[in-house]
Amino acid sequence: MTLNEITSTLRGAGISEGDHVLVHTSLKAVGFVEGGPSGFVEALLTAVGTEGTMLFPGMSPGERKPNEHIVSTFFDPPAPWVGKVPAAAVHHPNAFRSMHPTHSVIAIGRLAEDLTRDHHLCESPCGKGSPFHKLYEEGGKLLMVGCNFDSCTSLHFAEEWAGVPYHLQEGQATFACEDKDGTAVSGTTKIHRWHGTSDLNRIANHVHKFWRPFVLGEAHCFWIASEILVDTAVEVLKADANALRTSGTL
Ligand SMILES: CC(C)(COP(=O)(O)OP(=O)(O)OC[C@H]1O[C@@H](n2cnc3c(N)ncnc32)[C@H](O)[C@@H]1OP(=O)(O)O)[C@@H](O)C(=O)NCCC(=O)NCCS
Repeated sequence: MTLNEITSTLRGAGISEGDHVLVHTSLKAVGFVEGGPSGFVEALLTAVGTEGTMLFPGMSPGERKPNEHIVSTFFDPPAPWVGKVPAAAVHHPNAFRSMHPTHSVIAIGRLAEDLTRDHHLCESPCGKGSPFHKLYEEGGKLLMVGCNFDSCTSLHFAEEWAGVPYHLQEGQATFACEDKDGTAVSGTTKIHRWHGTSDLNRIANHVHKFWRPFVLGEAHCFWIASEILVDTAVEVLKADANALRTSGTL
């Protein structure tokens, strides 16, 4: 696909100028993209325009432990985990990156600095004050390109908000983060539990009326308003704390 084709498909699907959008991607699912991962980033930025913001997951894989001291130096996010599109986005000259040792977010655009600020002060990785929460407050959209709700980190925000018992480990880790410019922060954070926990795609049954499906190249895609997804998930989880959980034991 050319970058113009990508931008016009996104616009036709309802991604508009001025939108603030967190995207999760499988680039391979799209088929050939002009300019590769960085071309795809440019097409996304064109779709939201100078008044909008694109956000990308920049998180680190692997379960960490409370009482651990995590030292993170932010260079490239791990492409095998979040994909090559976020790995390209972080090198954009206007990219900001939130300082969090496990759930960093990359942002480019009008609200990039605000949405990524102070992540290191949050009590939990995706909870109050995190970029996921701020995007929700800003009326943001969640865009899934060739992937489903299993990759939708904002659902962890819903789990943290609803206070489900399986999602966070007891205790807190300490951390020290340093970005590529040498800015350093330290703090404490709760840590996600990885095994036998979330089966996020179960939310699909509850929100199928609200997402906007479309095809980009060969990829099945959709977007959904963060507010609708998170509010629905919190309601579902408050009614049944195990609604988005695998059958595994803790
Ligand atoms: C894991 C995951 C990233 C793998 O997807 P993928 O499409 O295989 O990988 P990427 O998005 O990194 O795209 C790279 C692939 O695109 C393909 N590619 C290369 N150049 C390309 C181009 N110009 N146009 C299109 N595709 C291209 C290649 O196959 C490349 O894989 P390779 O380098 O191994 O050959 C994806 O399945 C996924 O889960 N995405 C969501 C991740 C996420 O947001 N997680 C959040 C929770 S932590």
